[in-house]
Amino acid sequence: MKIGSAEHRDLFCNHFISTYTDYDPATLPWPELDEAGLQRLRSVPFWQEVLHTERRAGAIVQAFAQTIDDPLVRKAVDLQGFEEARHAALILEMIRRYDIVVEEKPMEPINADIVTAFRDFGFGECLDSFLGFGAFKIARQSGFLPDSMFKIFETLMYEETRHIVFFVNWMAWRAVQEGRGAAWQRHLTTSRFYWRALSRLIGTVRRGQQVNDGRDFSATQASVFLEGFTFRKFLEDCYSENRRRMSEFDAELLKPAFLPKLADTALSSLRLWSFSRRRPKQAI
Ligand SMILES: [Fe+2]
Ligand SMILES: [Fe+2]
Repeated sequence: MKIGSAEHRDLFCNHFISTYTDYDPATLPWPELDEAGLQRLRSVPFWQEVLHTERRAGAIVQAFAQTIDDPLVRKAVDLQGFEEARHAALILEMIRRYDIVVEEKPMEPINADIVTAFRDFGFGECLDSFLGFGAFKIARQSGFLPDSMFKIFETLMYEETRHIVFFVNWMAWRAVQEGRGAAWQRHLTTSRFYWRALSRLIGTVRRGQQVNDGRDFSATQASVFLEGFTFRKFLEDCYSENRRRMSEFDAELLKPAFLPKLADTALSSLRLWSFSRRRPKQAI
């Protein structure tokens, strides 16, 4: 199958559409939480940011879908828009059920260049998902919340994985359509958009630190899963979870490759560094 061909388009769109899961956030098996569980859930400092991100995602993806001429691509992107809006509904349902305090932020205007807005959003999703895969595994293993809660969020994680697989395939297909399908051109675009995504993420983290100043999340609640936390372990979890989740997808589909490669290089360097530090100095 040639990347950028009609066959490629049919594969990534039909795969996306056929793996849709039907559910209503209101009727999911939400667990009863004891007081300690409730406190832990309410102490998570980023629910407001997650809700805002999902709402914005729904608006961007739905707006972009309206501009697509190809009926199959449009149908798939439209479905993604629906799923993003449902993610926001799921977070809102959780906020309502467990009395989590959030302040709703007004939505900032979407970039008038809707293709660039969708690309920025897509690369942001690739970055967030790669880091989220590792964080999700660590949080789940620590038992920070009952496993029934993680099962609900597993649905969301799977959908995000589908979204980024769809996105990298769409990027490659579209690049060929626009005559920019050469490997160097695609790598240049990827690097540029990841850099933008990383800058936005750093900005969000900085803003989050200011907003959460005075709240004691890191000192108390997060210690449950921060015990024994190292950057290397986190990166290893991101890498292995990405590999595990991607292995469930059709081998012919493209998968996000930039961040796993970067992580692999970083991990090899870290291993080499710790090996050379451990090796006893030889007597001359
Ligand atoms: Fe989402
Ligand atoms: Fe998504």
